Amino acid sequence: MAKVLIATVKPFSAEAVDEVKGVFREAGYEVEVLAKYPDQSALLNAVADADALIIRSDKVDREVLEAAKNLKIVVRAGAGYDNVDLAAATEKGVVVMNTPGQNANAVAELALGMMVYMNRNKLTPAAGRELKGKTMGIHAYGYVGRIVGKIASGFGMKVHAYDPYIDPEVMQHDGVVYEENAEDLYRTCMYVSLHIPANAETKGSIGFDLLKLMPEGATLVNTARKEVIDEEGLKKMFAERTDFRYISDIAPDCSEELAEKYPDRILFTPKKMGAQTAEANKNAGVAAARQIVNFLEEGETTFKVN
Ligand code: 3PG
Repeated sequence: MAKVLIATVKPFSAEAVDEVKGVFREAGYEVEVLAKYPDQSALLNAVADADALIIRSDKVDREVLEAAKNLKIVVRAGAGYDNVDLAAATEKGVVVMNTPGQNANAVAELALGMMVYMNRNKLTPAAGRELKGKTMGIHAYGYVGRIVGKIASGFGMKVHAYDPYIDPEVMQHDGVVYEENAEDLYRTCMYVSLHIPANAETKGSIGFDLLKLMPEGATLVNTARKEVIDEEGLKKMFAERTDFRYISDIAPDCSEELAEKYPDRILFTPKKMGAQTAEANKNAGVAAARQIVNFLEEGETTFKVN
């Protein structure tokens, strides 16, 4: 009987766990749930006899892969897989997958929700600002970026996007203005929402040189990864541009300094929570479970990333 470990420091909703278990029950698999675990040693112990592993932002490094002697597949229930050592997994013959799009709506709703909250001065009575008529720049037009674009246009914003990996026709079809390069996106848009993954190409790529191009009232929204920000550049932007605001679901390492110096110009969630909705948990969890069963039973490798 195959054994699956669901290891999530940030737990899925109870309803999502029930549905995920249902998929494995039908397949005749054994399931262990390791939620809110205190440290990496708990994961190292639990993974020892697992054939398959479901994770969220949980770290799956070489040590975990070495401890998991029977492991055949890891599915990251979500989009970004920068928390998995892909090279080590490939070396060990472990397939890694993600579940693209399954939690995208939750992240997109939070991005716009935080923008509204910030624009209304965090619900204090001073006069706020509206989104209608402003320019919204989507940096990377994937699953989340597209939904952000749709919601933003519902608010009456003018939506632009830059993504070197997507055919411009996709954006044009959605009524989104295609920008040929990042500089043009930042130069044109008062709001820029980041949806790039964290990888060797993107880490530290959003810094002062790009941000300084943004028009008056510049607001950067980050529901992607903190690692894509060049924090020295971010601090310089705050110091030089008194109009600049930063909204993020993943507080930067310099968050305390920013909070002290510019409390009204930042909005950070206490913990990354973009994908933390009952719906997203269920969609991503069930998709991960089905992908595991399809892989172990049929060798199906759609969504394999290594
Ligand atoms: C993702 O990459 O899918 C999101 O960042 C959500 O991450 P989480 O599952 O840790 O909330």
